[in-house]
Amino acid sequence: MSIPPTPQSRARLVVLVSGGGTNLQALIDAEDFADIDIVAVGADRYGIDGLRRAEAEAIPIFVVPVEDFSSRADWDSALALAIAEHEPDLVVSAGFMKILGDHVLDQFSVINTHPALLPRFPGAHAVADALVAGVAETGCTVHFVDEGVDTGPVIEQRSVLVEAGDDVESLHERIKVVERELLVQVVRQLCRSGWSIEGREVVFS
Ligand code: GRF
Repeated sequence: MSIPPTPQSRARLVVLVSGGGTNLQALIDAEDFADIDIVAVGADRYGIDGLRRAEAEAIPIFVVPVEDFSSRADWDSALALAIAEHEPDLVVSAGFMKILGDHVLDQFSVINTHPALLPRFPGAHAVADALVAGVAETGCTVHFVDEGVDTGPVIEQRSVLVEAGDDVESLHERIKVVERELLVQVVRQLCRSGWSIEGREVVFS
């Protein structure tokens, strides 16, 4: 898979969110720096700050709740249709707390940001799992999404030290500071130079 954006054009991004949307905000703030246009923000639920951040910038939004569909495959198909309307070059899962299926993954290049150094601590409780394991350092990963749970090819990672007295909230907040910066850097590099995936290696063009 390789998607070089057209030279001189800004890459079109659809960003998927489920919560506060601080990673989305970092991308919004970096649109010029990263040569991107966030053409839509999608969510799996209503009433979240991530959607409010998009609305504040007049970015089109769409919401596709899993509960509205009788099967996960139908939900995934509806999500793919909603994304396709915005013709993205790249889809960014930024705190989107749902596993994407084939309809989305076959049609779009999707990256995800995860608050741990994959392959350690995949899944929805990565920060808590790192604390329980007693690791001295954890961090964040931006990776391409495949059919597994946080198993796709890693693009970049950054480390964050665990400090004495850390709880999930304090550690996650420190990870998120680094994570937002990393996400912007990775999106910028992908969209400016294009990429290819060779085996599990992501190669910038
Ligand atoms: C991020 O740490 C992301 O990796 C994780 O949830 C957090 C979302 O934060 N899955 P925000 O909604 O971007 O503030």
